Amino acid sequence: MVWLQKLFTRTNTINNSQSQTYQRDWIQLNQDRFGSAKIFFSTDQEIDLYELEELCDSVGWARRPLRKVRKAIENSYLVVSVWEVKGAKPDLIGFARATSDCAFNATIWDVVIHPRFQSKGVGKSLMKYMIKKLRSNDISNITLFADPQVVEFYRRLGFVLDPEGIKGMFWYPE
Ligand SMILES: CC(C)(COP(=O)(O)OP(=O)(O)OC[C@H]1O[C@@H](n2cnc3c(N)ncnc32)[C@H](O)[C@@H]1OP(=O)(O)O)[C@@H](O)C(=O)NCCC(=O)NCCS
Repeated sequence: MVWLQKLFTRTNTINNSQSQTYQRDWIQLNQDRFGSAKIFFSTDQEIDLYELEELCDSVGWARRPLRKVRKAIENSYLVVSVWEVKGAKPDLIGFARATSDCAFNATIWDVVIHPRFQSKGVGKSLMKYMIKKLRSNDISNITLFADPQVVEFYRRLGFVLDPEGIKGMFWYPE
């Protein structure tokens, strides 16, 4: 089952009446860390690619062609977006997606939390949410590629580096 096969819009079309049709899983917030912020996860909220690009810019990621980002998202098995609700329009503050063979394996990509919300437990909740969704579809082999500075973040979530000596191998065009 693919959770996100929806249109990704160039303009943000979210409004209150539309958003009621989207699934929203609200995060339990620690008031000391978040103040009055309201945050939810969604697997089907429409994502403005420009807003996603801004989120990726905020953590210093290299820009990628938007048409390819759109294609990657449309062909992902699971896409989870994280939103802060301040007014009528929620703001995208986090994102992650997974590709999968829909039976045995899934690989998680593009895990990002806006710097304003980092170190508050949102990334950990996002990863747990991803794992729960994948496990609920009986996918048991979940992999990812960790940048060196975030290996510990994933290790704390139960990910194992080189299990049984297995090495990730990459092929690049010359
Ligand atoms: C990596 C990232 C997703 C973590 O999200 P976050 O919301 O800041 O993390 P959390 O606050 O949920 O942290 C959860 C736990 O991991 C730890 N942690 C978070 N980032 C860490 C890091 N870079 N190195 C080591 N530990 C880290 C926290 O201390 C916390 O530990 P605790 O459970 O013992 O309290 C976020 O910092 C980010 O978007 N970074 C930039 C993009 C990036 O590097 N993405 C990963 C690409 S592979």
